[in-house]
Amino acid sequence: MEQIARRIREASPKSFGMYEKAMKLAAQGADLIHLEVGRPCHDTPEHIKDAAIAALRAGEVHYSDMRGIPELRQALADKLQAENAMSVDPDEILVTNGLTHAAFAAIMATIDPGDEVIHLEPFYPQHVGKVELAGGRMVAAPLDAANDFRIDPALIEPKITDRTKAIVLINPCNPTGRVYERAELEALADLAIRHDLLVYSDEVYEKVLYDDSKHCSIASLPGMYERTITFLAFTKAYAMDGWRLGCAIAPPAIVKAMMAITMNDVTHVNTFIQYGAIEAVLSGNESARRMKEADRVRRDKMVRALNQMPGVTCAVPQGTIYAFPDVSALGRPSQAIAEAILEDAHVVVEAGSFYGPAGEGHLRLCFGSESEERLDEALERLSRFFNGQSEG
Ligand SMILES: Cc1ncc(COP(=O)(O)O)c(C=O)c1O
Repeated sequence: MEQIARRIREASPKSFGMYEKAMKLAAQGADLIHLEVGRPCHDTPEHIKDAAIAALRAGEVHYSDMRGIPELRQALADKLQAENAMSVDPDEILVTNGLTHAAFAAIMATIDPGDEVIHLEPFYPQHVGKVELAGGRMVAAPLDAANDFRIDPALIEPKITDRTKAIVLINPCNPTGRVYERAELEALADLAIRHDLLVYSDEVYEKVLYDDSKHCSIASLPGMYERTITFLAFTKAYAMDGWRLGCAIAPPAIVKAMMAITMNDVTHVNTFIQYGAIEAVLSGNESARRMKEADRVRRDKMVRALNQMPGVTCAVPQGTIYAFPDVSALGRPSQAIAEAILEDAHVVVEAGSFYGPAGEGHLRLCFGSESEERLDEALERLSRFFNGQSEG
């Protein structure tokens, strides 16, 4: 008997990026500095923890509303109105176990076997896996590095076929750090409307914006709410990645379809942690702003240092916690460069090609996951590495 289901056996082989190679070296005792993971280095703000602890002590330990507790969905609806120009009923919000779960439920609820889903490339690999589990087919639409990875309909429209069901948008973008301008989103919306497509809009970094960047939710554009499933999470802005809390916002029929998945896989999200989320939504903006300011200082430090290294050119990321420097001047595949950095400098970075061929010639480095001291040490090691390359 074949014990493993066909959907797993037939899924494309999974790469964990540099993770497995790094784990091998770590097992040999190497002092690795991890710039490959997008894990915030901050602690969850105390007032948010206190709210969850108070709820736990108050006996909020039982089953609750399967869509998420009503107070949290109301707070989110008010936030969406105030910050995202989205007018939604709390019943159009589904609280989920992080953004990952929101995206999984949305894709499982809307993708039939054989449906094609367009991923703007460089893409976020985790969402590709979800499409495959649903029996869908990922179609990459490579964006142009020379054009700053802007959304260009001329590069996306040729990928649309009569099997295309949806487009995945990551805004602000991991890995490129781009915060898409309204005009770019309008161009994507125009494509989605003309070809009658869904848009999955991953906005996990909606609050991680620097300088004067402004975030626009594509669902707020005319004609888009009815075809967009917006994913948000508490993960990055409030340093709550381990809490596993996020949400999806979608028209009622889609929320209902998603609940057919979530009721079967988790029933609902842990009750008392949702009280921490209410505190984050109602009173967390100042804490989020302070953490973001610390990240901005790290961003500036990393970008400045990278641009002084021979063969490295780094654009300033407008949002997220990632730098995506161009290292094509070294004339080697990004995977080989990332592996050499791991071996020689004991710094873990991700190869740009991990995000699809359009990311080739780049590396992705997270400036938000290590302490400032460790970041300084990582930048010194990287500087020695790149100087060594230019001498060699
Ligand atoms: C673009 C993007 N989406 C989703 C996630 C995962 O979010 P969560 O931890 O809330 O599931 C990440 C985490 O790095 C991410 O970068």
